[in-house]
Amino acid sequence: MINYSGTPKIETDRLILRKFELTDAQSVFDHWLSDERVTDNRIKGAHKTVSETMKRTAKIVSEYASKEFCYWAIELKTSGELIGEIDLYNFDIATENCEGSYSLGYKWWNQGYGTEALRAVVEFGFRHMNIHKISAAHNLDNPASGKIISKVGMEQEGIIRHMIRNAKSQYKDCAVYGILQEDYLKNNVNAHTYILKLE
Ligand SMILES: CC(C)(COP(=O)(O)OP(=O)(O)OC[C@H]1O[C@@H](n2cnc3c(N)ncnc32)[C@H](O)[C@@H]1OP(=O)(O)O)[C@@H](O)C(=O)NCCC(=O)NCCS
Repeated sequence: MINYSGTPKIETDRLILRKFELTDAQSVFDHWLSDERVTDNRIKGAHKTVSETMKRTAKIVSEYASKEFCYWAIELKTSGELIGEIDLYNFDIATENCEGSYSLGYKWWNQGYGTEALRAVVEFGFRHMNIHKISAAHNLDNPASGKIISKVGMEQEGIIRHMIRNAKSQYKDCAVYGILQEDYLKNNVNAHTYILKLE
């Protein structure tokens, strides 16, 4: 059975994963949601005004009332800057599988933060929440996302043509990846123990 635990604070070597707060909206807008370099790889387009981001942040904050909601803000330990977001979603009761997704502000790409955040969330999902399988997908024209998925141990299971259509009406072929809990636990016996603050 899935052990739903909401969105606990998770500490990694360089990052704090924590719940969003309403006051984060301006940073979310400035750091990634208004930036097409980031949003071109997502389904929804860039925000044009911070009030769109405020509404979205308020919706996320309201959903923390549910234990089944796992949506983290990614903060840099050294500076306290908010650099991105990561979530687990689409929990399926029948299979106990779910999916993951993530985005980082452009300024922080290619410094290993995406891999570090995804590793922590996958570890939490399997070891704490008892998820059976975690899947993720990336556009074929977004190889950095494929890289981080592979680095946490997910295996490519296929390519789905025109799996998504982005805000610019471009269809994208996506590679789908997944990892089973049993394989993760077998291959990560000595996985880094993250600091978890459960409520
Ligand atoms: C995907 C994303 C989260 C990656 O985060 P990140 O912190 O830059 O990732 P990391 O630094 O941990 O790893 C990136 C890897 O991709 C590699 N990479 C970057 N650009 C690449 C490219 N054009 N081709 C091939 N590899 C590339 C890097 O070299 C690195 O691999 P390495 O560690 O083996 O050198 C970030 O690029 C992002 O937010 N993109 C926009 C939103 C997005 O794509 N979300 C995912 C939707 S599926």
